[in-house]
Amino acid sequence: MTIPRDITPVSNMIVPSSPSPSAFFNAGTSPSFETSYFPAVPKKQPKPFNTGDIKILLLEDINRTACELLQKEGYQVEFHTSSLRDVELIEKIRDVHVIGIRSKTKLTASVLDHAKNLLAIGCFCIGTDQVDLEYAAKRGIAVFNSPFSNSRSVAELVIAEVIMLARRIGDKSMEMHLGTWQKASTRCREIRGKVLGIIGHGHIASQLSVLAESMGMSVLFCDAAPLVAIGKARQVKNLTELLASSDFVSLHVPETSQTHSLIGRAELRAMKKGSYLINASRGCVVNLQALCEAMRSGHLAGAALDVFPCEPPADGPHFNEDLARWVTEIRGLPNVILTPHIGGSTEEAQEAIGAEVGGALLRYINSGCTTGAANMPEVTLRSLNVAEVSHLRVIFIHQNRPGVLRQVNNILGDYNVEKQISDSRGDIAYMMADISKVDSAEVKALYTKLEVLSCEIPNFLTPFRLSSGSTH
Ligand SMILES: NC(=O)c1ccc[n+]([C@@H]2O[C@H](COP(=O)([O-])OP(=O)(O)OC[C@H]3O[C@@H](n4cnc5c(N)ncnc54)[C@H](O)[C@@H]3O)[C@@H](O)[C@H]2O)c1
Repeated sequence: MTIPRDITPVSNMIVPSSPSPSAFFNAGTSPSFETSYFPAVPKKQPKPFNTGDIKILLLEDINRTACELLQKEGYQVEFHTSSLRDVELIEKIRDVHVIGIRSKTKLTASVLDHAKNLLAIGCFCIGTDQVDLEYAAKRGIAVFNSPFSNSRSVAELVIAEVIMLARRIGDKSMEMHLGTWQKASTRCREIRGKVLGIIGHGHIASQLSVLAESMGMSVLFCDAAPLVAIGKARQVKNLTELLASSDFVSLHVPETSQTHSLIGRAELRAMKKGSYLINASRGCVVNLQALCEAMRSGHLAGAALDVFPCEPPADGPHFNEDLARWVTEIRGLPNVILTPHIGGSTEEAQEAIGAEVGGALLRYINSGCTTGAANMPEVTLRSLNVAEVSHLRVIFIHQNRPGVLRQVNNILGDYNVEKQISDSRGDIAYMMADISKVDSAEVKALYTKLEVLSCEIPNFLTPFRLSSGSTH
C-alpha cells in the first residue's frame, strides 16, 4: 500500500460532520428545483483517504482476477459468492466505497439511499439494467461495466453454430443420445464458399467476420452506419439485399425500437430458400412465431437461438409453455439449436470482465479517471507519479448548472492549480483540478473550505485525494 506523504492521515483529518439533509437542501436558490433533482440523502464527506481505507464489497462470485487486482492495491475487499438478501445488502452497502455486482443484485434508488460513502459501482457483466444509473449519477456514484469483453466468445459460438446447422449436428447428437444410429449426407453441407450475411457490424460481428473469412466464407454485412469493411467483407445497400444474398444470416444489433422485430414474416420470406438464421443478439429482434412458420414450411433449413423475447429468471426446468406459448413449438422444430443465453459465457470472457471492470474501478478510485463510465462524463486522466511530491488531485462531481464552478474556483484560486478539466453529461458535471506545492496543513484547509462550500451550494461533492507516492 502506498501512503501519501503530502496528506494528513485520515484519522487526523478533522472535517466537520456532514450537514443534515435539510441544511443542505434548504440552502441556495430555487429549492423546489434542487429537491426535485437531487436525492434527499446525506452527502458523502469530502475527505482524503489512503488506499487502505477503501472498503470494497464484491458480490455474486465475481471473477478472482478483479478480487486480486483490488486486494493488491491495498483496498479492504469483502468477497461473497452469491448475491445478498435485501436487508443484508442494505446493511452492507451502508459503509462501503465500492460495490461490485453481476446481474442479480438490483441497485435501485431505495437501496442506493442507504449508501453513505459509495463512490463507484462495478457491474462485472455486459449490461447495467440492474442499476438505477440516473439516480446513481445524481448521487455522484460512477458506474462501470464491461460491454465488449465477451465479443470473441459470442463470435466463436456463432461460428460453431454455422457449422452445426450446415451439418445438422444438433439433431444427429440428439438421435445418438436416444440410441439411434442414422448415417446420412442428405442436406448436410460444407460452409466453405457460402455467404454469411451479418446484420449490425459492431464488436462481435467484426470478430465473426474475420473468423468466417478464414474458413472460406464470403461475408456481407449491413449496418445502420456506413463502416469501413474488414478483410474482404462487403457492406450491402440494405437489409433486403443482404437477406436475398446470404446462406446464413446472423444478427448482431442492439435492442432498440428500430431493431424490435427486425426479422419478421416479410424478412424471413426475403431470405434464400434453404438458408439459416442465427440470433445471439437480443430476443426481441426476431419474431419467433414467424420463424416457426418459416421452419415448418421448409423455407428455412435451420436456426440457432441463444436469446429469447422472455427468458427464465433462474436456472432450472423453466423453458416450457409457462414461459411463453412459442416455447413448445420451438422445442419441437428440427435443426433448431437452442442455447440458454450463453453466447458470452466463457471463463476467458469472465476473466476479461474482471480485469476490465476491476481496472476501471481502480483508476477511478486512485486517479478519478472516468473512462468507460456508464453514467458520468468520460474523462481520461493520467496518474500523478511518484516524482510529483506535494501534489493533490481534487475531483468535484456536481449538478450541471451555472455558477458552481465559479464557487469552487474561488476556493481553488488560492492554490497552485497545475491543470483543470471539466466536462458534463446531461445534468451531471465533473471537475478535476491538479494542485501542486501544497503541504498537509494547506490540504486540510482546502478540504475544510470545500466542505463548507458543499453545505452552501445545492450539489453533491466528491473530492478525493491523489498524492505523490501513488503509482497509478
Ligand atoms: N448472446 C450473448 O450472450 C451476448 C453477449 C454479448 C452481446 N450480446 C448482444 O449482441 C449484440 C451486439 O453486440 P456488440 O457488442 O457487437 O454491439 P456493438 O454496439 O458493438 O454493435 C452493434 C452494431 O449494430 C449496429 N446497428 C444498430 N442498429 C442497427 C439497425 N437498426 N440496423 C443495422 N445495424 C444496426 C450499430 O451501428 C453497431 O455497429 C447486442 O444486442 C448485445 O446485447 C449478446
